[in-house]
Amino acid sequence: SLRNLGNGHGRESALQLFVQAKKRINDIFKDIDEYVVDAGKFVQGLSPELKGVGEEAIISPENAQVVVGFKVKIDGIREVLTRDHMKVVFFGRTSNGKSTVINAMLREKILPSGIGHTTHCFIQVEGSDNEEASMLTEDSNQPKSIQSLKQLASALSSGKLKENSLIRILWPKSKCRLLREDIVFLDSPGIDVSPDLDLWIDKFCLDADVFVLVANAESTLMQTEKNFFHKVSSRLSKPNVFVLQNRWDVSESEEDIDKVKQQHLDNNIQFLSEELQVADKREAKDRVFFVSARETLVSRLQDDTGIPTPDRALLPGFQARIFEFANFETKFEACISKSAVKTKFEQHTDRGKNITFELKKVMEDAFTSSNQHLERQQRLRQERLDELETLDKQLDLLSREVKAKIKVMVETVERKVASALNDE
Ligand code: GTP
Ligand code: MG
Repeated sequence: SLRNLGNGHGRESALQLFVQAKKRINDIFKDIDEYVVDAGKFVQGLSPELKGVGEEAIISPENAQVVVGFKVKIDGIREVLTRDHMKVVFFGRTSNGKSTVINAMLREKILPSGIGHTTHCFIQVEGSDNEEASMLTEDSNQPKSIQSLKQLASALSSGKLKENSLIRILWPKSKCRLLREDIVFLDSPGIDVSPDLDLWIDKFCLDADVFVLVANAESTLMQTEKNFFHKVSSRLSKPNVFVLQNRWDVSESEEDIDKVKQQHLDNNIQFLSEELQVADKREAKDRVFFVSARETLVSRLQDDTGIPTPDRALLPGFQARIFEFANFETKFEACISKSAVKTKFEQHTDRGKNITFELKKVMEDAFTSSNQHLERQQRLRQERLDELETLDKQLDLLSREVKAKIKVMVETVERKVASALNDE
């Protein structure tokens, strides 16, 4: 049924790939951490004589320092790991519906949307374990609680907000599957509003896993939109880009709409595959969707109340557009989890491998030198044993000589005594 589309019921979400991988890699680093701690204790616990200096040492001071360094590195990686998430950023001209798309995906009207220039700065929506929503601004690290969506809207609509600034909304994970599964959404002001694109990219896009270009189906892609993505793809190697031809509800009733749709599709495919070269033609076709964020949001909000949306609230053909939106989400989820696992965890995996490899070397060095130490000890003991044995033999010999001598002496004395007696 349409009702459950997109809220993840009844199927394992593709995002679990990331969630599970993150859990696994966290467990592995916990093990490595314990291993490093044990190694550290071992090094610490060596008796001073065995630590020694120079050749005699089982662990050289350099190696002991290396083990301490590993602990610091592992702590750092584990810290980054807990913060790792999948990040999707939305760009497009003002009023194309970026904020509405995000709200539809979140199944809640979190971000303010409206006609005119609505989103004034970057707004990030991320999951929180807290049951209460809160907000973080760049000028303080104290979260402010959000009493209501209305209050949030007024906080976000302030004209004082600077385009390049970031507001983070920490939204309860319990309310949204996508946040629970570690996706972070970034909404942006329109790219046609005198932006500093280079700064935007540096500040907000370098760790993005997926870019969504929210276009307006009522017009073709504009140069401002294209330019931004050219800049992105010159900075990041092969970014994942999706194109949403939004407001399709408004266009679809127009005459000759199939022709227009094909034209949009051809243009978008050409843009992704030939201009940006971020996908081949076949992949690009799977990156373009004709949707209505407004209808999807309205219908989902209504569905979540349990009462079906009255069809007259939506334009004819809305089911297909809502289906297309869910289709976009499925492709998007598969793409973002795969990409994030690769970009976020590959480097951790390499570093983890390096550290265990280096640690193994240190421990092997220790093992080799402790063996040498043992051999040396045994050799020394053997030498001492040999000495003792010789001494023993000498003593034995000596004592036998002495006994023999005494025997001779006694015999001599006896003989002398006997002859003296005889003489008397
Ligand atoms: P800025 O924040 O100003 O850059 O705009 P935005 O891209 O975030 O657009 P927003 O989501 O605020 O939407 C602008 C207006 O278009 C709002 O009134 C929305 O309700 C409306 N809108 C968004 N998506 C659709 C859609 O698919 N169809 C129709 N008919 N209206 C839409
Ligand atoms: Mg907006």
